[in-house]
Amino acid sequence: MLSIAMFMSNLVLLMPLLISLVASEYTSFTYHGFRSANVILDGTAEITSNGLLKLTNNDTARQMGHAFYPYPVSFKKSLNGTASSFSTTFVFAIAPEYRGLGGHGIAFVIAPTRGLPGALPSQYLGLFNSRNNGNATNHVFAIELDTVQDFEFDDIDDNHVGIDINGLKSEKSATAGYYVDDFYESYSTPVRLRGGQQIQVWVEYDGVEKQINVTLAPLTVDKPVAPLLSLSRDLSPIIKDNMYVGFSSSTGLLVSSHYVLGWSFKVNGHTPELVIYKLPMVPWISRDKRMSKFLTIGLPVMVTCLVLVAISSVIRVIRRKMKFAELLDDWELDYGPQRFKYYHLFVATKGFSENELLGRGGFGKVYRGVLPTSYIEIAVKRISHESRQGMREFVAEIASMGRLRHRNLVPLLGYCRRKGELLLVYDYMPNGSLDKYLFHQPTLTLGWSQRFGIIKGVASGLFYLHEEWEQVVVHRDVKASNVMLDGELNARLGDFGLARFYDRGSDPQPTRVVGTLGYMAPELYRSGKATTSTDVFAFGAFLLEVACGRRPIERTEDVLLLDWVFSQLNRGEILEAGDPNLGTDYVAEEVELVLKLGLLCSNSEPAARPSMRQVVQFLEGDVPLPELPSVGLYASGLSFAMSYPVASMDKVFTPLSFVADSLLSGGR
Ligand SMILES: *[C@@H]1O[C@H](CO)[C@@H](O)[C@H](O)[C@H]1NC(C)=O
Ligand SMILES: *[C@@H]1O[C@H](CO)[C@@H](O)[C@H](O)[C@H]1NC(C)=O
Ligand SMILES: *[C@@H]1O[C@H](CO)[C@@H](O)[C@H](O)[C@H]1NC(C)=O
Ligand SMILES: *[C@@H]1O[C@H](CO)[C@@H](O)[C@H](O)[C@H]1NC(C)=O
Repeated sequence: MLSIAMFMSNLVLLMPLLISLVASEYTSFTYHGFRSANVILDGTAEITSNGLLKLTNNDTARQMGHAFYPYPVSFKKSLNGTASSFSTTFVFAIAPEYRGLGGHGIAFVIAPTRGLPGALPSQYLGLFNSRNNGNATNHVFAIELDTVQDFEFDDIDDNHVGIDINGLKSEKSATAGYYVDDFYESYSTPVRLRGGQQIQVWVEYDGVEKQINVTLAPLTVDKPVAPLLSLSRDLSPIIKDNMYVGFSSSTGLLVSSHYVLGWSFKVNGHTPELVIYKLPMVPWISRDKRMSKFLTIGLPVMVTCLVLVAISSVIRVIRRKMKFAELLDDWELDYGPQRFKYYHLFVATKGFSENELLGRGGFGKVYRGVLPTSYIEIAVKRISHESRQGMREFVAEIASMGRLRHRNLVPLLGYCRRKGELLLVYDYMPNGSLDKYLFHQPTLTLGWSQRFGIIKGVASGLFYLHEEWEQVVVHRDVKASNVMLDGELNARLGDFGLARFYDRGSDPQPTRVVGTLGYMAPELYRSGKATTSTDVFAFGAFLLEVACGRRPIERTEDVLLLDWVFSQLNRGEILEAGDPNLGTDYVAEEVELVLKLGLLCSNSEPAARPSMRQVVQFLEGDVPLPELPSVGLYASGLSFAMSYPVASMDKVFTPLSFVADSLLSGGR
């Protein structure tokens, strides 16, 4: 008891030190949406269910809301009292109640307290009140995005950006806009702050040059090179050692919803850029409630027109709703940022146009697309499904896949779910899949060094899945047509449609046998258990495929690739098995290594196959390849396939049927 009490009292004594330690790190954070962000809210501020920070809402006048990062930010690490450089960027949207009319605005603020005691709404933006406005004891620095012209503060118009120090009479302000290329251009491209659009703001302070830059642009526009506002001012007297950073917003007689979608902040350095597709979406609110005198003129005509317009727009809205309808269950809110809007994917792929079709596989069609706001190139795979059963697990797996990060894996960006179909969004791979370079030999024949690089890349990706990630991931469909080539011809293993995730040490459960004939290990037919070792078997078939330039099973030929390579080995002429089109940079030892390793991985006995860790070591030459047994321990799995006729020649079951199936059989 005594020691616990002593520990507690020590802890109490240590508290201030701990707090100052926390504060003494250079603060840096990035929030894409605020669902799991660390912010303290007051007033009307709230986090909406899809992760937007909503500072004010649109139903009561004269209100305000604040959101602050909860910890103090240390701005003065140097002992001489100079304020450090800092930078911040955020995306906001203002949706007024009446189109074109709304108040009052939003401000990024640095203040000595977490919250702004005594502050007023309306024209005071939740920052100051009539007594303390302009007082140097405030120590408040703010960037205002003001949508009402207040003559008492010399506002230039009702759509401006201002740098505020201790008060609302801006030190410098400008009509919202951005310079396309040169700061010294005479005019900027205007931006309407309260038009409901998503706008990004960058605030940068250089502690050495003592200069503040403010830049702003619609989210669809890249960061302009020149700032909208630039002010030379030393912030050292205004900023205290420890300050709080956040946002303030207010409404007046006219109301608006003020949203912040994402925020990144950093002391002493550049903030990381926000990733647009990770930001939550703003609900589209801009109801046209403008009062009109015309209503009194020609009223009957107007009414008829309105009724007609209303009917047609209702029909349009319903049709549009049906066209773009998505399914969203509560549990999916956890996967928010990874969920794409169907509408965006529709626009990105030009309405899933046949011209954008990249290919079609056993799972469905794949389309190329460009995301509307970020211009990121994507590949969208449409998979049709009937049941909702198993969907939750499937989406959980997609979320896990979205967290897989390796230079030899195709990144999965997210998904979208609709009635009857699921859409998976991947990074676009400009060079397509490897098989077309091996078998169709289009414009480009891959030489040996390229092939060897691809082999090593796939090995490294598979090793990551098997051993380096938090769970064991069994890919279940390793083959040349699932290896994509990026812009630099680096190999990236893709198509995780069949992948399974296991906790380390757990025993894989039997599932329906899936995969592609010729790549499926013989024990798979017997036990139905997909393991890392069955992946190694498929990798062996892949090695032979790449080195020989032939498929494991050619429909036109009787002999299997594996048997043929093995017979060449026994005749002492294994190199004869290599692809004749390997080019001039061909290294005989490497080709031999790959062919022999392919045979080693194809051993019918799972225990005799190497692990992916060993495969990587063999390929890197760190460990010599063991001697191959000369008797036929190799099996293509084909004879098993004949006796267990579960798979067709090409692709087999959809991932959803197998998920549902594995759930029925007791799940994982
Ligand atoms: C204060 O310290 C910073 C960093 O230690 C240095 O860059 C700056 O020049 C100093 N300023 C003065 C006024 O000494
Ligand atoms: C207020 O905003 C909500 C969405 O946040 C919207 O559904 C509603 O129509 C808006 N109300 C008014 C009066 O504009
Ligand atoms: C500024 O604020 C301080 C402290 O609140 C107060 O004592 C002082 O009178 C104020 N100055 C002006 C000019 O109002
Ligand atoms: C502010 O903008 C000017 C003009 O583009 C640039 O020269 C300067 O380095 C910028 N300063 C900061 C702190 O970003």
